[in-house]
Amino acid sequence: MKQACVIGWPIEHSRSPIIHGYWLKHYGIDGTYTKRAVSPGEIEAFLNGLAAEGLAGCNVTIPHKEAAFRLAANRDASAIAVGAANTLWLEDGCLCAANTDTYGYMTYLGREAEDWGRRDAPVSILGAGGASRAIVYGFLEAGVPEVRIFNRSVERAEALAQTFGPRVKVLPWDQRSRASTEAAVLVNTTSVGLKGAGSLDMDFTDFHPDCIVSDIVYVPLETAFIREARRHGLRTVDGLGMLLHQAVPGFEKWFGLRPEVTDELYDLIAADIEAV
Ligand code: ATR
Repeated sequence: MKQACVIGWPIEHSRSPIIHGYWLKHYGIDGTYTKRAVSPGEIEAFLNGLAAEGLAGCNVTIPHKEAAFRLAANRDASAIAVGAANTLWLEDGCLCAANTDTYGYMTYLGREAEDWGRRDAPVSILGAGGASRAIVYGFLEAGVPEVRIFNRSVERAEALAQTFGPRVKVLPWDQRSRASTEAAVLVNTTSVGLKGAGSLDMDFTDFHPDCIVSDIVYVPLETAFIREARRHGLRTVDGLGMLLHQAVPGFEKWFGLRPEVTDELYDLIAADIEAV
């Protein structure tokens, strides 16, 4: 029997077991995917003991993503760009790490708004944390002419821009509306709006009518940011799809089958979010 899990500290809130559990059942695979609370002091020993525990690998969440990256022997390009990993697996006894947020975000965007890159316009990103890095990397790889970063603390945005080079520009936080009117895509990667807390205070009035507005926050499913963009007639992409698609590469590594993100899976997780 193949086994995988998600590790974090705390770990109770993770929805990954529902996603992988759905696929295991759907494809009739003899496997398990569990939650494991691993403290910061235990992370190294835990990862060194994966094989001995019979685990094919694991997902990694807060606060272990940087440690997972550091402790892995092989890392994929997105993990290197972000400096953090969320998916680990063993290959010939070697610990391999990937950051699948880039894949998750870009895949869902491509699926929901296939034509997002048609205008060859800049992309605007709110936030400069780990999720922002994964998404900036995705857009640069996709060939966008310019990525504009807006972050509350400018130093963090500048540090991000430095890693990625001249196509990434830092703009003041208070210009996030005015300097995004021509954007092909506007993405919120900050935690603002999570569980209804805070407001991004965006003014969508002069936005290009083809701009796609997306949020990586998925609790609630429709954030105030998304709702406001819709009210202005803009197309929107929610955060739940990224969560579902980022799980695909890990499942394939551990269980040997590339799973599909179906409407049924989307509805299952959406119902779980709405039940809270
Ligand atoms: P993640 O790894 O999920 O990206 P993170 O690294 O903690 O999380 O980053 C959180 C992001 O949300 C940061 O860009 C943060 O801005 P700062 O760098 O200025 O802290 C942003 N953020 C959090 N609360 C915010 C708020 N109230 N207003 C604006 N931005 C906020």
